[in-house]
Amino acid sequence: MISEFIHYLGTRAASPGARRLGYAGETAALETRHRRCRKAWQAHLASTRAALLSAAERAGPNRACALIGGGGSVHDLPVAELLDRFDRLVLLDICFGPGARRLSRRWPQRVHCCPHDVTGIVDWLAKHRRLPPAELLSHLALPQLDTPPDWVASVNCLTQLPVLPIAYLASRVTDENLLEAFGRELVQTHLRWLQAWQVPICLITEVEDRHFDRHDALTGRMDYRSLLHGFQTDAACIGQWPWQIHPPGELAGGRHEIRIIEAWCT
Ligand SMILES: C[S@@+](CC[C@H](N)C(=O)[O-])C[C@H]1O[C@@H](n2cnc3c(N)ncnc32)[C@H](O)[C@@H]1O
Repeated sequence: MISEFIHYLGTRAASPGARRLGYAGETAALETRHRRCRKAWQAHLASTRAALLSAAERAGPNRACALIGGGGSVHDLPVAELLDRFDRLVLLDICFGPGARRLSRRWPQRVHCCPHDVTGIVDWLAKHRRLPPAELLSHLALPQLDTPPDWVASVNCLTQLPVLPIAYLASRVTDENLLEAFGRELVQTHLRWLQAWQVPICLITEVEDRHFDRHDALTGRMDYRSLLHGFQTDAACIGQWPWQIHPPGELAGGRHEIRIIEAWCT
């Protein structure tokens, strides 16, 4: 708890609205879990880094700027290796911990933290606390960058985009179908957001989660692959691996959970 509170003090959210929806708390909690689950998460972090490098390589040599969405926690980014390939790395996230800010101090001209809400609706939600109108939801919130990116990645954040917005709305919007449709729209808009840059892209995302009881028996499974259908037609899958997100000991009653992650690129 104490370490989480210390991380919380060191986080910087993109806006007061983002803080109100809980992004600073989430970032601090994620950092604490990174420490607690270091061993169980190691393979996933290494696979994410390898997939990013492989996707960047496929995108071609001599690139000026890479934009990494969901890059605020940096544990899963091969920063030094990407800096061998790109002159500039823009880490984009709705909230940054001290780790990313340290990197931008270390390479002040080359690593830039861009606090930005990729959904474009968080501040609106913080103010109105109701479902946003369709035109707002489908608007692509592209940040203004000094150098246009020639490669864009979205790293382990796609299925996280609806989580806090839905949690914030849940006390006011009781129709679960409406909340689910809203969540799906946020995911679809992010896939269009990626494509809107019109450069090679890499998407690393969870496609399935599996829940187990303490006897390792499968108790539940959720498949998110249908969310990617439109995106997949133009993209190639370059990797798939399991992420033991809740290793035994993390959840009550000996339950545990893995996620299946896939890396796609164009
Ligand atoms: C599961 S974490 C990614 C974890 C990280 N890549 C890692 O494994 O260390 C999801 C990331 O997406 C970011 N994120 C969530 N909603 C966002 C939004 N609306 N705009 C930008 N980033 C967002 C979070 O702040 C967080 O850094």
